[in-house]
Amino acid sequence: MSDEIITNRKDEHIDIALKENVEGKIGTWFDCINFIHTALPETDLHKIQVKTRFLGREFSAPLLIEGMTGGTPRGAKINEQLAKAARELNIPMMVGSQRIAIEKPETEWTFRIARESGEDIFLIANIGAAQITTYTLDKITRIISMIDADALAIHLNPLQESVQPEGDTDFTGVLDRIDWLSRELSVPIIVKETGAGISYETAKMLLKTKVKAIDVSGSGGTSWSAIEVYRARKVKDDVKEHLGTKFWNWGIPTAASVVEVRAAVGKEIQVIASGGIRDGVDAAKAISLGADMVGMARPVLKALDRGYNHLLNFLNKTILEIRNVVFLTGSKSLKELRKKPIVVFPPLAYWLEARGFRLEEIRDES
Ligand code: FNR
Repeated sequence: MSDEIITNRKDEHIDIALKENVEGKIGTWFDCINFIHTALPETDLHKIQVKTRFLGREFSAPLLIEGMTGGTPRGAKINEQLAKAARELNIPMMVGSQRIAIEKPETEWTFRIARESGEDIFLIANIGAAQITTYTLDKITRIISMIDADALAIHLNPLQESVQPEGDTDFTGVLDRIDWLSRELSVPIIVKETGAGISYETAKMLLKTKVKAIDVSGSGGTSWSAIEVYRARKVKDDVKEHLGTKFWNWGIPTAASVVEVRAAVGKEIQVIASGGIRDGVDAAKAISLGADMVGMARPVLKALDRGYNHLLNFLNKTILEIRNVVFLTGSKSLKELRKKPIVVFPPLAYWLEARGFRLEEIRDES
């Protein structure tokens, strides 16, 4: 694929994600979960902190700015602002796929700007499954060193590639390569999906590697099939538009995926919940199911589109909402929140039953 195609595609993704309704229509299933309100919390909301330890660092909240962009001047501006916010709030941030910077080194600055603006933030590099099978170790090390990254996220996006007009659909050997890299690289590896979720079985496969975190990126939030429908329409590719429409809602809803992964990996691997997390209450529900960290992509992009202060406001409000849930469940910390009772309704309840997951055991483990 030519560099120009990748460059155009990057800005096109941003435009579509901002302008069109590209959310999954079935939802994340977080609305199937209820906390039990506690009228006697016996604690002071002002004293509640949501500090989080993740991959060896302490953050002020369990909130991750998910990987989205880079490679174009517009992407650079976004990375710069996101990193500034990550620094101000002491939360981690991931850049978008750095494939373009490997294939077109003159675009490296559009990623490095996040390190310059974020200085000492926990910054996560990003590359796709299809690239790691062909890149040399030197190239992968370059992805990390170009932004002095603290971790590397490898994204799995078979759904997106399968419905995309110019998709890379050969996923042969990806697991072996992840395994090898997880032993060779000096920074921790995060394996992430991109909106279709990770199952118990996939997480078990990853458990055999030295991967340090799994980001479920389940369905119910940004749907890559939906984004590809809009792109296919533009180039009048009927087949891809049809495929994208059919697979618009494909995937494991995020709430189910968090349980799937937590059940598979126990305490061995940290879990990030992302995909359709839209406020602090969703985030708290994900944490209560066993997630260590919660990630957001499209809502962050949309907030930033309205200005830097709006972005800060949005992130601060989300953190406040998480703290409020901790308070209203009578918990003093996120650790306590994970042990508070919840009620689970269908369809999530049916899914858990059909898959044989016992929530009490899984939540106790976290
Ligand atoms: C993404 N996402 C993404 N993921 C990744 O690993 N590398 C990437 O380059 C991108 N690019 C990207 C661009 C845009 C515009 C969006 C909205 C998203 C996927 C993202 O990290 C996340 O997994 C999903 O978007 C689900 O989260 P939300 O958007 O539902 O909060």
